[in-house]
Parts: sequence; C-alpha cells; structure tokens
Amino acid sequence: MIILAFESTCDETAVAVVEDGRHILTDQIFSQAQLHAVYGGVVPEIASRCHVESISLLAQRAIEAAGITREDIDAVAVSYAPGLIGAVLVGVNFAKATALSLGVPLIPVHHIRGHIAANYLAYPELEPPFLCLAISGGNTILVDVRGYTDMKILGATRDDAAGECFDKTARVLGLPYPGGKPIDQLSQGGDDQRYSFPLAHVAGNPYDMSFSGLKTAVINLVHNAQQKGEEIDRAGLAASFTKAVSDSLVPRTVMAAKELGYDKVVVAGGVAANSRIRADFQKAAEENGFSLYVPPLKLCGDNGAMIGAQGYYEYLAGVRAGSDLNAYATMDL
Ligand code: KG4
Repeated sequence: MIILAFESTCDETAVAVVEDGRHILTDQIFSQAQLHAVYGGVVPEIASRCHVESISLLAQRAIEAAGITREDIDAVAVSYAPGLIGAVLVGVNFAKATALSLGVPLIPVHHIRGHIAANYLAYPELEPPFLCLAISGGNTILVDVRGYTDMKILGATRDDAAGECFDKTARVLGLPYPGGKPIDQLSQGGDDQRYSFPLAHVAGNPYDMSFSGLKTAVINLVHNAQQKGEEIDRAGLAASFTKAVSDSLVPRTVMAAKELGYDKVVVAGGVAANSRIRADFQKAAEENGFSLYVPPLKLCGDNGAMIGAQGYYEYLAGVRAGSDLNAYATMDL
C-alpha cells in the first residue's frame, strides 16, 4: 500500500511516499530553520507562509522522486495535531484537497505517534508493545505503546519540553537556532561535572518531568557570570546541562520499563539525536538488559516518512477522516 504523507506542524515542510508503513520511497524535507534563526525561535506566521509556498512543489517532487504516478497512491496521511495551528492547517488543507482529487482515503495522524513510528522505518523487526520516550521541541512524554494505535501516556513534562530547554540554553550562549545540535557539538570534550544543575522531582507522578527550572538555572548562571565579568566554561556548561537533561530522562525511562516489564525501549523525536542521551540510553540498555531502538539521525527530527509509517497502521485500524478534518494545536496521544 502506497501512502503519500504530509508533515507541517512546525518549521519543516515534509512530503514522503511510504510503502506498507515500513519502506521509504522518498522523504522530501524543506527545513525553514534558517528563516527563523534570526529571531532565535520559530515565528508562527512565517512558518505558515513558508509551508504554503513550498508544500505543492514538494508534493510534486516527492511523486517524481518515488518513481510513482498519482494513480499509484492508495491513501493520503497528514499530521493534524499537535503543532502551530496555522502551520498544521496548511498540511491538513493540502492533504484534504489531494485525497479528494485522487479519490483516496485521508488518514489523520498524531504528530507524536509519527515520531514513535519513525522507528518502524529503521527497525523492520520492531513491533509493539514497547515503552517509548518521545522527546522533541514541543513535547516530552513517556508512552506505553501497547499496540500500533493503542497508547497510554505514563508521564510528561509539566512545563517546557526537553528540546525547548536545549534551544533556550543555546540562545543564552549565543548559539544559533535550533540549538540542540550546536549544544551537542559544543559539549563534546566538555567536563560534565563543571557545573551542577538542579534535578527536578515532580510530586504526584514519578514519570512526570520538569525542565523549566533547569532552563532558568542555566540562564541565571550565564547572566550572573556576564554581570560579574566572569568567563564561562562554555563546553563544560553545555556538557553539564546535557547531563542534567539526560539524568532526568534516562533513569525515569528505565524505571518505567522495569515497572511495566518491558524489554524493548524506543526513543523518538528531535532530541533523540543527542549524542550524550543516545550514549546514556545505550549504557542503560546494556546494564538493564533491554533492547534499545533509537532512530538514525535523519529520522529523529520532523519528517514526512514517519507520518506515512504511522498512517499505514492507522489505516489498518480503520481510521479515516473526511473533508471536515480540522487541525489542532494540542491533542491527547
Ligand atoms: O522532533 P523535532 O524535529 O520537532 C518537534 O516535533 O518539536 O525536534 C526539534 C528539537 C529542537 O528543540 C532541537 O533543538 C532538538 O530537537 N534537537 C536536539 C538535537 N538535534 C535536534 N537536541 C539535542 N541534541 C541534538 N543533537
């Protein structure tokens, strides 16, 4: 089954062609990051406009690159929540029009379900049930993936997402947006014991997390140093900060895997590209005897292929949308 898939929830316009949920025929991505970099974060209006300008061309290019014709497309999948509402609307409306004109089913896909499904593209043997930590720019959630379309949130950040924390730490250090990769690079060789940051313990649910305190601690540390004219060990700061994020994520995930009795742990989302977090998860997998699945770097960030992968399983589960499909800024998994 051939699915044409659209993703436009934030600052990547992406169109992919995916076969049977597991094979990428093409994954076309246009990243707007450069356009937003000057503002230090995504400007929603600019994102929406840019999606409008590029989505049609990208769809055309995807069909050509996949070596298919319009008649080969069996269904259209689209990321319809959560995200920047104006941005999501562009993908949803384009997907609706495409499905209508081709006379094929339209499948709505939750963006985070898509991130989780990126792992199906990378690991043909991977099947639910498993535990998944989804860490991106807008979301940080620990999910019990009982089936391809049956998921339960075990815990989530109460405030900022891990990716937001990377982006703001980068900004205060004068690094470009998006900040995750530059912080990752800066932290290489840095002393992760150089600065000590608070680890948030959230009352009520052991799987809930919090990153706003860490973000504030980093910003305060940098501002204080600047006011006193003190030099910051930038590599040490990046390494210590990343350790703090990882120490919030990895032990909680291990604890949940043990409690639920899972021997498969999946990590997903843009922050899953982080080298320290990947290494810490690898170490935890070896120590605790679970199998670890982390997407290759190109499938960690937003892409259309992951929407096509999850779209396939939503289709099998009977999920369909009509031309009244709406876009949503927030939505339960
Ligand atoms: O999944 P994603 O592309 O978009 C959302 O769905 O939000 O995630 C983007 C986030 C950004 O905050 C970016 O800084 C972060 O992923 N990121 C990283 C790395 N690469 C991207 N964070 C830490 N280390 C990285 N290497």
